[in-house]
Amino acid sequence: MKNGVKIISFANHKGGVGKTTTTASVGSILASQGKQVLVIDLDAQANLTASLLHGESDVSIYNALVGNESLPVVDINPNLHLVPASLGLAMADLELASAMARERILAELIDEVKDNYDYILIDCPPSLGLLTLNAFTASNEIIIPLVAEVLPFKGLTMINNFIDMVRKRLNPQAHVTGILITRWENTNLSKQIEQGMRAQLGQLVFQTKIRKNVTIAEAPLESKNIVEYAPKSNGAKDYKAFTEELKKLFGEK
Ligand SMILES: Nc1ncnc2c1ncn2[C@@H]1O[C@H](COP(=O)(O)OP(=O)(O)O)[C@@H](O)[C@H]1O
Ligand SMILES: [Mg+2]
Repeated sequence: MKNGVKIISFANHKGGVGKTTTTASVGSILASQGKQVLVIDLDAQANLTASLLHGESDVSIYNALVGNESLPVVDINPNLHLVPASLGLAMADLELASAMARERILAELIDEVKDNYDYILIDCPPSLGLLTLNAFTASNEIIIPLVAEVLPFKGLTMINNFIDMVRKRLNPQAHVTGILITRWENTNLSKQIEQGMRAQLGQLVFQTKIRKNVTIAEAPLESKNIVEYAPKSNGAKDYKAFTEELKKLFGEK
């Protein structure tokens, strides 16, 4: 029996900050350590689906959200399981506009399967819309990946206001677990922004940062995660270190 499943959303309304890469990498690493992991693609662009499956998926979370079906789960390997997305998901916001309890649909779908897993990781779309609302209603833990290019406080305020609303109305347990600096470069700008963030946000910023590393961008093209594709790369090292930091935070070995 799996007790205490961790359900984690990776979210930021900005695109290109590493949400999908982080979901795929952390999911694959946890699975390789013997955890039962479900990763959920909640983005109509279906990048997570493409990076884990060879070719497109013929099932999609869309049918579960809109069509009252149960979550479609594809086994990537014995420990890693995927709920795929498809382009059709782009219509879900509109189609669910008048659905009853439309913010809780994903939470209810996850409830049906969560006992099978140690970790459920949700890759959110780059917007603070109904799909992200569903993700935050379903998950207590929210991790925000961001690129240290400009001071991110304005963007963080937007996400925090959104989470406050979720806490008041939908899920009182939802909270930011931490902020993950991604695509970090060894430049004065990156360093200054990192310092500024640590000064302002303290413990909320994960110790581990993910360095900019071209092999990270190459791996999904081969439908591989960074740890399989280039186990000795900085990308693999950083994501392994981040996964360890996360497990420690949750009091796990
Ligand atoms: N640390 C990194 N170094 C280099 N490229 C990265 C890194 N993290 C992500 N990328 C690349 O940047 C792009 C955006 O990343 P992605 O994970 O898809 O972001 P998001 O899901 O937030 O839109 C992808 O092409 C990805 O391969
Ligand atoms: Mg993405």
